[in-house]
Amino acid sequence: MDNFIIRGGRPLSGQTTISGSKNAALPILFATLLTREKSEVRNVPELMDIKSTFELLNYLGKNCFYGYGSFVAEEHGSLKHHAPYDLVRKMRASVLAAGPLLARFRKTRFSMPGGCSIGMRPIDIHLEGFKKLGAQVTYEKGDVILTAKRLRAGRVKFRFPSVGATENLMMCAALIEGTTVLENCAREPEIEDLAAALNKMGARVEGAGKTAIKVTGVTRLKGLKHAVMPDRIETGTFMLLCAAAGGRVRLLNTAPKTLTVVINAMRKAGARVNCYKDSLEVISPAGRPKPVSVATKPHPGFPTDLQAPWMVFMSRANGTSEVHEHIFENRFMHAPELVRMGADITVHGQKAVVKGVPQLLGAPVMCSDIRAGAAMVVAAAAAKGKSVIRRVYHIDRGYERLVQKLKDLGVDASRVKV
Ligand code: EPZ
Repeated sequence: MDNFIIRGGRPLSGQTTISGSKNAALPILFATLLTREKSEVRNVPELMDIKSTFELLNYLGKNCFYGYGSFVAEEHGSLKHHAPYDLVRKMRASVLAAGPLLARFRKTRFSMPGGCSIGMRPIDIHLEGFKKLGAQVTYEKGDVILTAKRLRAGRVKFRFPSVGATENLMMCAALIEGTTVLENCAREPEIEDLAAALNKMGARVEGAGKTAIKVTGVTRLKGLKHAVMPDRIETGTFMLLCAAAGGRVRLLNTAPKTLTVVINAMRKAGARVNCYKDSLEVISPAGRPKPVSVATKPHPGFPTDLQAPWMVFMSRANGTSEVHEHIFENRFMHAPELVRMGADITVHGQKAVVKGVPQLLGAPVMCSDIRAGAAMVVAAAAAKGKSVIRRVYHIDRGYERLVQKLKDLGVDASRVKV
């Protein structure tokens, strides 16, 4: 297992380039299951979750190649329909294979994805949607089995705007004759990117990014050629890194319009954010940030994936703020680690109260999930002294070439094998 060593406490300066979005790339790679034809997806970040997707698609029968940010998937033989436990357990997003396999073969079997440290992560909303389109759902030895004599277009109203369920049902409906209407959909930008990719394959998806999405099914889909959108969560992480540690940085190859709510909150706290077409510049507050409370919500609300880095930014504020986590049931595991670095944070259920302190201090800390790990990096860069960050494999799932990018921005960071 590797550790990061970060010596923080000095202002950042420099620029770095944002990678393709993990949370857009994953559903788009699974969408290649919808066609036999060759697909090429570019700007795919080199991450553990992409590697897990590569392994699963290869296992299912796709011939995949990945290099220099390009992912190519071809199909020569027949596909398996079963995504086994030892592949699904590595990455929950494997459930996104279900919609495409069900649409193409009217059957699929996959291991029920386990929960993770941030919550139970059930898939009932996905399954309810498949049932509405004519699938039967059975369970056997920890697997979910979906079968359908015939899938039929219909109306699916999600009880909660689940990102994964919206993506799974969009992909499934793309090959079902007739018009399917999905309501109370997730509106994340990654949903729009998936819809754009599906439409390039010949699908007819309208309304992505809004609460109602209309999918008119076609009989077959073409191979895909698509470049994945920039990663808005990586962008937000680096913005908050600069805001918390101090300094002035430029982030290239990104999409400021996907981060409006975060940019507004940062400006309220005293940071300056200059937005350009595909880049932005962050200038940290002159002194300590002003306290600004946030509550995570489905897009366009404050993104839950930036809640942990935001808490770091607020841990040095000139006053008290609150952070409310409304998406996941257990997403404050970074709080005790920040307290070990001198932060003053108390958690009451889904609310964390953050009393700003003048300075964080370096310490040995541990990552518990991707974004809590990112928060440790932000805190270590802001803290005075040396921090050792353990279990960085969590961070490898969501941040490409992180140490290099930290160095681009002037952070004294290194990765050591232990
Ligand atoms: C996606 O997860 C992202 N992952 C998550 O990013 C992100 O935090 C989340 O959306 C919310 O924005 C990918 O896109 C690969 P949900 P997903 O279905 O689709 C509950 C990261 O760090 N729910 O919108 O799993 C669920 O338990 C990751 O990059 C059900 O109850 O999120 C959660 O509380 C973490 N039943 C809430 O809804 C279901 O069937 C949101 O889940 C599905 C979800």
